Amino acid sequence: MNKIILLDKRPVGKVSLNDFKFVQEEIPQPMEGEILLKTLYVSVDPYLRGRMNDSKSYVPPFQLHEPIESGIVAKVVQTNNAAFKEGDIVSGSLKWQQYQVSKGVGLNKIEDDGTSLTAYLGILGMTGLTAYCGLLEIGKPKAGETLVVSGAAGAVGSVVGQIGKLLGCKVVGIAGTDEKVEMLKSEFHFDGAINYKTTPDLKKAIQDACPDGVDIYFDNVGAEISDAVLVNINKFARIPVCGAISLYNGDNSSNGLRVSSVLLSKSALMQGFIVSNYADKFPAAIKQLTAWVKEGKLISSETIEQGFDHIPQAFLDLFDGKNKGKMIVDCTN
Ligand SMILES: NC(=O)c1ccc[n+]([C@@H]2O[C@H](COP(=O)([O-])OP(=O)(O)OC[C@H]3O[C@@H](n4cnc5c(N)ncnc54)[C@H](OP(=O)(O)O)[C@@H]3O)[C@@H](O)[C@H]2O)c1
Repeated sequence: MNKIILLDKRPVGKVSLNDFKFVQEEIPQPMEGEILLKTLYVSVDPYLRGRMNDSKSYVPPFQLHEPIESGIVAKVVQTNNAAFKEGDIVSGSLKWQQYQVSKGVGLNKIEDDGTSLTAYLGILGMTGLTAYCGLLEIGKPKAGETLVVSGAAGAVGSVVGQIGKLLGCKVVGIAGTDEKVEMLKSEFHFDGAINYKTTPDLKKAIQDACPDGVDIYFDNVGAEISDAVLVNINKFARIPVCGAISLYNGDNSSNGLRVSSVLLSKSALMQGFIVSNYADKFPAAIKQLTAWVKEGKLISSETIEQGFDHIPQAFLDLFDGKNKGKMIVDCTN
């Protein structure tokens, strides 16, 4: 039998396990031109929260009582499509099902070159590309500048900070536990790191950690953390707005900083982006990220949960900061 995870209810506020439903069906048979895929690794991502709302955005919402979809690495176990052979490994946006049929459209074949398969969901996948493109295209880092990154110990943030260091920036990360703060400094060689949950005056802590001011703020979280960084920006600062996870569950209770005056007085650029804006840069970005990973200059950090049944909980855990690096579910057993 084939297990499938459906969106059962549209979450109100924080997502709960009751918003998902497990169903079982016969394993589907591939028709002419189709392949049968077995799910190996599933990426859970904060942006999926937005797709659970019935609202228009840059990706269409999930439909109620239909499977959730995310980045998945899968194996071809049966094929009626000449472009794929049995045993091929692919990645793409696929459904939360143990098995599924596909025509192969939109799937990328993964060559076995010794790279771990989970890297294609993280550092060599969507989150690595987000870090690379957002930082280089909007942040435009220069050696000697100060880069602050929020959500710093997560999938995107940990790569942003490491690339910043490779390019000669001073890097300060903001994260939610002392363990993460320690990891940023000792494993990723950030120059400073701040625990936003235990620091009473974040604005002052950022000022102390960045005595020359902030030239680039890579924003993954939004709200109060961003307010505290923005009041510390330098003239001509760049602010790639990558995500706003602190707002995804609908907590908009605080009006926060009115950014206009800060941006105006500092001649600063604040720009939101979606990674797919930079699709034409992906081949060069993957080449560079792969080279840095192989040279040991970029460390892939991952939290791997076990078992298909654990996918919804792993997704919920993102909002409680339980992951370090990319959150992935291993469904191989
Ligand atoms: N623009 C794009 O194309 C694009 C692409 C990918 C991701 N993103 C965005 O980038 C951000 C990071 O994504 P990711 O995949 O790398 O996730 P992630 O950082 O690996 O995981 C989410 C992390 O967010 C932090 N967090 C959760 N709730 C928070 C809150 N209320 N306030 C502050 N921090 C909170 C947690 O770490 P702590 O322990 O530090 O709280 C958690 O570990 C998200 O906002 C995501 O939507 C955007």
